[in-house]
Parts: sequence; structure tokens; C-alpha cells
Amino acid sequence: MGKERIPTHVGIIMDGNGRWATLRGKSRSYGHRVGSDNVERITEHAFNLGVKTLSLYAFSSENWARPKEEVEELMRLLEAYLKRFLKKLQRENIRIVITGDVSALSLKLQKVIAKSEAETANNLKGVLNLCINYGARQEIAYAVNKILDKGEPITVENISANLYTAEFGEPDLIIRTGGELRLSNFMLYQGAYAELYFTDVLWPDFNETEFDKAIEEFGRRHRRFGKVQ
Ligand code: FPP
Repeated sequence: MGKERIPTHVGIIMDGNGRWATLRGKSRSYGHRVGSDNVERITEHAFNLGVKTLSLYAFSSENWARPKEEVEELMRLLEAYLKRFLKKLQRENIRIVITGDVSALSLKLQKVIAKSEAETANNLKGVLNLCINYGARQEIAYAVNKILDKGEPITVENISANLYTAEFGEPDLIIRTGGELRLSNFMLYQGAYAELYFTDVLWPDFNETEFDKAIEEFGRRHRRFGKVQ
């Protein structure tokens, strides 16, 4: 890669694990396993390039409607990923945060999450934001309720300030793999001015070179934030 403009905050909708596996005559769970290995690869690469916050859509509020075995496999993979990757993120000075309604997750997974967040809380190089049981509409409702509880005025700025991700700023770039052209309830409020990058590449095949292509494309975009120049 040349000297690209590196987005500070990148969000990724990691889609296509199921189709990737089906194309190979394997189970969807197998696709999620390979997809989970790819999360490690892309996380490392993104922080090496200089991305400061990486938000990964790992499990949406709507994903509970999937077959029970698939939900169980995704939960198992999240736990395994956090356990396996914790030391490495610690060494690399990356903080882990989970956004979403974690209260609906198993107590075991909640414990692993709490441990990962606590042990990496002082890491300053970057933030890995895993969105688990996350939904942007739910997040907006959560922010508005928080404001009402505090008796504060509902303003655009105040909603921004009360979102789960308030302290990490808005995403500059949102990538969606797997060919669908939609946001599927991901960062709808804070993503208002994010550059969107869609690719047909299925998540398990979305390697470093594919990530670099998204960054290069981002570098070619003119961000005007609603203004003229
Ligand atoms: C979409 O594939 C992917 C998900 C439902 C979530 C992403 C999960 C992972 C990458 C694995 C676990 C994550 C971590 C952080 C360890 P899909 O099943 O919708 O694919 P399809 O559209 O081809 O059916």
C-alpha cells in the first residue's frame, strides 16, 4: 500500500460466512469458524495500518432468530475468540470494548467479556469494539432513555453523546462484505456521514489485500459532510 489516508474509525459488517461454507459443501457453523479466524487477521492488519477504532458487527439483535445451533456456535466462537485473542491484544496495547445489550448473553460469556474489558481498559493504541447483541435502533432508544433519565434536552448532540460508542467518535468508513447493499441496523445514527464500501467478497475471503482496497477507495472519496466543498 502507498501512503493512504487512514480512516480513524472503521466499522465492518462481516457478512457471507454461511454462503462461503455452503459453496464448499460445509455447514454454516464451519463458515463462522473460518470467519472468526479472519477476524483475528483483519483486526491485526487494521491496527497495524493505523486505524484507531475498529467496530465489528459480530452478532445483531436480530441474529437470535437464527437456528438454535447456529446461535450457540456463534456464542461459542465469540467466547473462544476473546479468550484466545486477549493476550495478543494486551501485548499490542489494544483495548477491547463490547457494545450492545450484553445482559441477554450467557453469564459465562458476560464474565469473559467483563474480564477482557477490564484487563485491556488502560490500553491506548486502539480500540476493538465488538458489537454483540447490537442494534442501532435499540442503541438510539437507549440513548434517548438515558437523556430522559437525566432530565436533559433531547438534541442531536446529546443523542450522539449518549450512544454506546460516544467516546470513540463516528465511523469514517463502513465496510460490508458479502454482496448485500444495506446497513442492517448497524451504526445508523453515528454512521450518518460514514463513507460506505460494499464488496461481493464473502467475509472469510476478505483478506488484507481486500481491506487495503477499501482503504484506498476511502482515500479517493471527498467527504463534504453536507457542505459544498
Ligand atoms: C454473517 O454471515 C456473519 C455473522 C452473523 C456474524 C459474524 C460472525 C463472525 C465473523 C464469527 C464470529 C465473530 C467473532 C468476533 C469471533 P452470514 O451467516 O449472514 O452469511 P450468509 O449471509 O452467507 O448466510
